[in-house]
Amino acid sequence: MSKLKNKQGFIDVVVGLQWGDEGKGKNIDELLSHGKYSGVARFQGGANAGHTLKLGDMTFIGHIIPSGCLQKDVELYIGNGVVVDAVSLIKEINELKNLGFDIKKRLYISNRAKLVSHLHPFLDQADEYRRNKLGTKIGTTSRGIGPAYSDVRFRRALLIGDILSPEFAQKEATLTEFHTNFLSMYEEKYAFEMNAERLGKIKEAKEKWDEAVRELKKLQICDLSFLIQKRLSEGKNILAEGAQAVMLDMDFGDYPNVTSSNTLPANVCLGLGVPHTYLRDIYGVIKAYTTKVGGGNFPARIQDQALEKAFQDAGYEFGATTGRPRMCGWLDLFALRYAIGLSGANKIFINKADICLSDKIKVVTGYKNNKKVLKEFPLYLTEVTSVTTEEIPGWGQANYGVREKKKVSKELSGYLKYIKNKLSDLNVKIISVGTGPDREHFFNWDK
Ligand code: GDP
Ligand code: IMO
Ligand code: MG
Repeated sequence: MSKLKNKQGFIDVVVGLQWGDEGKGKNIDELLSHGKYSGVARFQGGANAGHTLKLGDMTFIGHIIPSGCLQKDVELYIGNGVVVDAVSLIKEINELKNLGFDIKKRLYISNRAKLVSHLHPFLDQADEYRRNKLGTKIGTTSRGIGPAYSDVRFRRALLIGDILSPEFAQKEATLTEFHTNFLSMYEEKYAFEMNAERLGKIKEAKEKWDEAVRELKKLQICDLSFLIQKRLSEGKNILAEGAQAVMLDMDFGDYPNVTSSNTLPANVCLGLGVPHTYLRDIYGVIKAYTTKVGGGNFPARIQDQALEKAFQDAGYEFGATTGRPRMCGWLDLFALRYAIGLSGANKIFINKADICLSDKIKVVTGYKNNKKVLKEFPLYLTEVTSVTTEEIPGWGQANYGVREKKKVSKELSGYLKYIKNKLSDLNVKIISVGTGPDREHFFNWDK
């Protein structure tokens, strides 16, 4: 019995600790390149994610395919907690094939994962249209994520396993009718026009969706919880790939400016069907500064517009899913401490340390509501009227591509020591620092 126990594998988790786009894809790709993990699993979210992988001249952005696709020996899992956009999935499989990676034999999809319908993105747009009039637009990715998870909660969603059943056509028709009625309600009550152009787009979306579902049927759909538990019992380790980030968590982010799933490592167990006893290291990913896309207050936002634009340009801060420009802010230590507390991150990756555009940079150390300094993270970020900051020397762009700690500029070194010091009461280590977009662009810091 004890022999068996010793052989058991474990699950490490990677999550974003800011508002997404911290460079999780790059770090996951690198972590998977050493043979320590036999598989990588998405456990929540859907094609709202955009995880960029770069290796030399090759770039791949995964929206739904886990970030182990460029590692030929790594199994790729899509867990029950994911809402699957079939069109994105098939498109990515084909894109990867063109890049020389045929992933079909190592991709496993949970039969309990949920299917994004062809009308979910339209419902997403319709609700954003309604909210826009109220001034409460979320700025979603329009990928149908909110409506898909709503259907899950309402218990009318289509499961991936359903596509193999003879009753699928009927189930799908019933749901489509419901969604169509819902869209009529948006038209009637909120003037979301179902004009010829929109109807044309819906028709086209349905055709693409049908085709993608036909392809999806040919993939490996299985009881993924069983498969992962089997791998763990064989002594194999798995990496769980978080999408979005802690500050976008449905329960602990800045509601309602959040995504529709729980992004925290706690959700790995529910999103894959594994007990918490397998969880080991939690890797938290941040940028040396902060970015955010979509609505809601952003307390750490850089106030000087020209400087924000300079960060945007130098860091190429445009959404990997929607192409929208990302707002840029200083590193927000107040939010980071909140995110570390919630996620239990014990190892930190800091990316984009090669991007620094001023002689002096600021760091947000606290939030204020008028004159009151907040002790706890506020219920709504609109409560934050100003922030407290500290200023430290910047380091220009001298560290691009640096791969050794000893070659790092004095100023960047000072910044990293400053962050380490600010987090010294927490159980975290800054283990690696990113100096460029490539898998190889990083140096180890605090091993
Ligand atoms: P993810 O969603 O967390 O995987 O991050 P994204 O892929 O959406 O956005 C991160 C962007 O930063 C991508 O364009 C990456 O290629 C790029 N990137 C990641 N790490 C670094 C880094 O250390 N330096 C620079 N300059 N770019 C990076
Ligand atoms: P990755 O995994 C950054 C944001 C959207 C919007 C809010 C809700 O690449 O880090 P949704 O479409 O999920 O209903 O949108 O969440 N958002 C992200 N922002 N990175 C992401 O993913 C995001 N996924 C969703 O911009 O503000
Ligand atoms: Mg992204």
